Amino acid sequence: MVRNSANAYGWVAVALHWLIATAIGVMIVLGLVMTRGFDDDIMAKVALYQWHKSIGIVILTLVVLRLVWRLANPVPRLPETLKAYERGLAHAAHVGLYVLMLAIPLSGWLLASASTFPTDLFGWFPLPKLISPDQAVEETMAEVHEVLGWVLLALLAIHVAAALKHHFVLKDNVLRRMLPIAAGHRTTGDQ
Ligand code: HEM
Ligand code: HEM
Repeated sequence: MVRNSANAYGWVAVALHWLIATAIGVMIVLGLVMTRGFDDDIMAKVALYQWHKSIGIVILTLVVLRLVWRLANPVPRLPETLKAYERGLAHAAHVGLYVLMLAIPLSGWLLASASTFPTDLFGWFPLPKLISPDQAVEETMAEVHEVLGWVLLALLAIHVAAALKHHFVLKDNVLRRMLPIAAGHRTTGDQ
């Protein structure tokens, strides 16, 4: 099933969810390591920054595609057993994750634009600059980029805890229907 139904995620939504989740995990580790280490090997540090920026732009593109796909598809309903405020919280968390998935790479792009240091996407072509170089903007955006990264980590902890609670405590199909290996469960509908 390519598209989502009222009860199940199609494979495009599942593939995008896990591809982006994995890439973001790599990016957080890469971001923390490259900014805190490699001071004795400046060539490696610069290479890691270029990889971080290149992968980040790919993530931004995938997130935009994912958002378009989500808007063009039905969103599977949560189990009827959940209370209205629980659905509200789940929805708010998902909106928050989408906002962060856009705001983090955009703040990165702004900070890279404000820097005088050039960015070469995968060594192929220069990243277009959104704004002209400005050290104050670069510093502010670096701060914003870092803080939003920590906010994402906190929201992710809640997101993962909620997914595990659905699976192990409530024993519904909410986690299973987002897993690539559970196509059978995804297509059989609720519970
Ligand atoms: C979802 C995508 C991204 C994630 C999760 C992410 C995450 C991070 C993290 C955790 C750091 C370390 C922050 C710190 O401790 O100072 C960082 C630094 C950085 N990121 Fe990203 N990033 C993303 C996308 C991008 C993009 C698209 C660009 C630019 C095109 C970018 C440019 C940078 C730069 C230049 C730094 C170093 C900032 C500094 O030197 O203070 N990032 N990123
Ligand atoms: C960077 C990591 C992650 C991000 C940004 C993220 C983001 C999202 C978003 C925005 C949704 C809403 C549905 C959609 O539009 O696709 C979602 C759904 C979901 N995520 Fe994640 N996620 C991440 C990691 C994880 C992990 C590690 C797990 C499992 C432990 C997980 C489990 C789920 C489940 C089960 C759903 C379906 C919820 C439902 O059916 O309403 N996610 N995720």
